Amino acid sequence: MQNKSIFSLTCPVLKVEQVLEHTYILTVEADTEKLFFKSAQFAMILVNLKSFPLLPRPFSIYDQREGELDFIFDTVGLGTNELANKQKGDLVKITGPLGNSFCLEDNFETGIIVAGGIGIAPFKMLYEELLTKGKKVQFYYGARNKNLIHKIPSAEKLYRISTDDGSEGFHGYISQLLEKDLLETMPKNARVFACGPNVMLNATAQVAEKFGIPCEISLESVMACGLGVCQACVIDETNSDKYKLICHHGPIFDSKEVVLH
Ligand SMILES: Cc1cc2nc3c(=O)[nH]c(=O)nc-3n(C[C@H](O)[C@H](O)[C@H](O)COP(=O)(O)OP(=O)(O)OC[C@H]3O[C@@H](n4cnc5c(N)ncnc54)[C@H](O)[C@@H]3O)c2cc1C
Ligand code: FES
Repeated sequence: MQNKSIFSLTCPVLKVEQVLEHTYILTVEADTEKLFFKSAQFAMILVNLKSFPLLPRPFSIYDQREGELDFIFDTVGLGTNELANKQKGDLVKITGPLGNSFCLEDNFETGIIVAGGIGIAPFKMLYEELLTKGKKVQFYYGARNKNLIHKIPSAEKLYRISTDDGSEGFHGYISQLLEKDLLETMPKNARVFACGPNVMLNATAQVAEKFGIPCEISLESVMACGLGVCQACVIDETNSDKYKLICHHGPIFDSKEVVLH
């Protein structure tokens, strides 16, 4: 069941699994009739119900099953380190579903997924959705080195990998590998879906534009509310003096719609 309401529910942690040196998957028990996410939507997770950090943190949905939600995250600071140390039965507060999702309605044949680092988060569900819709999928995944590549079992066989240090796959950036491949074979009627650091999104969007492929990007920002209230997550509109809110109008944007810094 899909709904447009936003819920804020206290959810018990089922497990926190370490999948890479600084990467974890949090699984919580949740009412997934209410907390039902489309791929690339996100939740605000209040990590500690009693003390710091006081503000919730935004995380993309990684996977959902009946009664369970998964979030994949890198430990970068206070909230994510606290999350990594959660034990079975600890409580977190999850607000969602928030934001928009990738547009799958258009008449395209091939979805080109481009992930950078923890930008892999929205793509397990998107990959499965694309297959269900009968689309062809190409899966590009760039990381700094081979130890930072998270394997999604159902998609791993498709991965076209790049690493900055050349320790696995193409030696260079994922946008360069994409460009190289597109020069060799141009898929008919394709659409790029990208998530990762802004510099990688910028480069990927430029490659997509060069080949005339529509490109949707998933953006990140520091967020205090996730609900369009605090104005912490502004991004400039292209050729305009207006701005958009990543939490409210995004996190998915057409790459030509906003200015990436
Ligand atoms: C819509 C959305 C979806 C996201 N999905 C994921 C996800 O699936 N997995 C994941 O690991 N991370 C995701 N993030 C980023 C995640 O929210 C931050 O890494 C997290 O809030 C950091 O919290 P912290 O308390 O550990 O770090 P803090 O102690 O608050 O900060 C530590 C460092 O991280 C930087 N930082 C904090 N928040 C962000 C941010 N949003 N983007 C970039 N840098 C930040 C700070 O400037 C600081 O340098 C997402 C962000 C957004 C906006
Ligand atoms: S995070 Fe508050 S307006 Fe976007």
